[in-house]
Amino acid sequence: MCGIIGYVGTRDCVPLLISGLKRMEYRGYDSSGIAIINDDKIHIYKKKGKIEELEKGLLQNPHSATIGIGHTRWATHGAPTEVNAHPHTSFSGDVAVIHNGIIENYSELKQALLLKNHTFRSDTDTEILAHLIEEFYEGDLQKAVIRALHRVEGTYGIAVLHAGEPDKIVVARKGSPLVIGIGDGEYFVASDLAAMVEYTRDVIFLEDGEVGTISREGLTHTTLEETRIDRKSTHIDFSLDQIEKGGYKHFMLKEIMEQPHTLEDTMRGRIQVDEGNIILGGLQGHLDALKKAEHILLLACGTSYHSALVGRYLIEEWARIPVQVEYASEFRYRNPLIEKNTIAFAISQSGETFDTLEAMREARKRGALCLGIVNTVGSTIARETDGGIYLHAGPEIGVASTKAFTSQVTVLTMLGVLLGRQRGMSAEEGRNILGDLRKMPDLVARILRTKDDLLDIAKTFSRASNFLYLARGPNYPVALEGALKLKEISYIHAEGYPAAEMKHGPIALIDRKMPVVFIATNDNVYAKVLTNIEEVRSREGVVIAVASEEDKGIEHLADHVLRIPDCHPMLMPLLTVIPLQLLSYYVADILGLDVDKPRNLAKSVTVE
Ligand code: M6R
Repeated sequence: MCGIIGYVGTRDCVPLLISGLKRMEYRGYDSSGIAIINDDKIHIYKKKGKIEELEKGLLQNPHSATIGIGHTRWATHGAPTEVNAHPHTSFSGDVAVIHNGIIENYSELKQALLLKNHTFRSDTDTEILAHLIEEFYEGDLQKAVIRALHRVEGTYGIAVLHAGEPDKIVVARKGSPLVIGIGDGEYFVASDLAAMVEYTRDVIFLEDGEVGTISREGLTHTTLEETRIDRKSTHIDFSLDQIEKGGYKHFMLKEIMEQPHTLEDTMRGRIQVDEGNIILGGLQGHLDALKKAEHILLLACGTSYHSALVGRYLIEEWARIPVQVEYASEFRYRNPLIEKNTIAFAISQSGETFDTLEAMREARKRGALCLGIVNTVGSTIARETDGGIYLHAGPEIGVASTKAFTSQVTVLTMLGVLLGRQRGMSAEEGRNILGDLRKMPDLVARILRTKDDLLDIAKTFSRASNFLYLARGPNYPVALEGALKLKEISYIHAEGYPAAEMKHGPIALIDRKMPVVFIATNDNVYAKVLTNIEEVRSREGVVIAVASEEDKGIEHLADHVLRIPDCHPMLMPLLTVIPLQLLSYYVADILGLDVDKPRNLAKSVTVE
């Protein structure tokens, strides 16, 4: 995810900006850049790739300044290139902007600016903002920024320089964090405390809809309506490591807790609830092919494979197209058949998984149109597919995938509705599904608030040697995912099964030492799952049930109940997976294991 750092004071800001950018490296990025003011001129340095590249360039061509801004970019609009890296400048080059977030109405704003003869260098939404600020500039940068922001729809954390006011940085936020740091005759701004904590611990957190101007003389802080704000500074005293993890002990827990926001980001600008429609920019050129598609092939590994299995239930139900889900590694080597009008989706968080990449290449060779469902912008799969859908879930650092799974399922839900609407799904049905999908961030947040209950259950079972996870329908892949999560970070053996398959073998394993996690939600197979629970109980197995908040009866059957709110039955996987992620996390943490970097595993598996 992008990072912002800015400084105005008396020190040479170049090394300070570089060290701030390095402090934010853990968030993931694909390019970086700085803007400084010297001799009343803005100077920009940008590089694709590692911050070291930027640093090397600056060492060869040394510069110093006492005011500047720096940015690490994680591409959303436009490929990860040097041209698209921030800072972006205005038409005249007098305004420089760095920006975190997404400007949703950027193409509308761009059209208006093109009519005024603006020309653009990059493919980014941020460059539009620099031009817009220049349009409104009449000698007061803060006022110009405010006027521009009144025209902007979307989210932003920004820092802006103007060559005509060489001692000021104007900052503003809506939906993307920004913190102002206060030093002695100097000010800092950053999107992440980690970037400035080395220099100051006295900070003012900007709230949404607020603007600030920092200079050597002080801080002006107002709302977008120009009402003055006098907020006291806060002294922070936690460690750098804690800050990078947002105060959480591990990235995995941070990423689990982020899911209400990542789901919002995945859906942003893509859902038209009132029309019951979906707009997926990366598929616009392929709508005809999607309409004609007779077969869908989903290629993936690990957690991404589990999200693909959920996708099969959704797409087949809503669009009535046969969906084939394949382990990418198996698909490649079994002389696969690709029917006419097949669309293959390569699903991958990293976009670099070798097996998925090769399977996608194989599918293309055999005539399929290949599209991607990828988190990492500009990754190999994203580049090599003919189009696709980004997750916009932000960098996932913990090796155990969590937020990517829920964003993948969200994307597959949107894809299912899009394909369904092309094939006769009524607007009303579309509205119902999308209305419920929009509620997911709040419902996920509700489950996350009960996380301490999971900690208690994890304490009870952390010494178990085996776990069984059972479910049916779209929750069956969640059972597989729950088992994978537990085994990869806690090293406890766990198996996921369709609940009804238990009687064909796994039932032999059940005794009083075997915890069995059932997903028993309010759907058409609920009664059948209850029967399976009875079967486990009568063999003295210990039952942990993931069940509806409304389901009072389950307490008589299960030893422990993990509660989730009710929702559309096809969207349940987005909720049922949350307690299972938390359960695995707490078990591994109680066992004192390296949760974020489990043994033998890599975040991105780029080998066969
Ligand atoms: O980056 P990808 O989604 O392609 O990665 C696929 C798997 O390697 C990945 O999901 C892996 O199974 C995770 N460790 C699961 O938590």
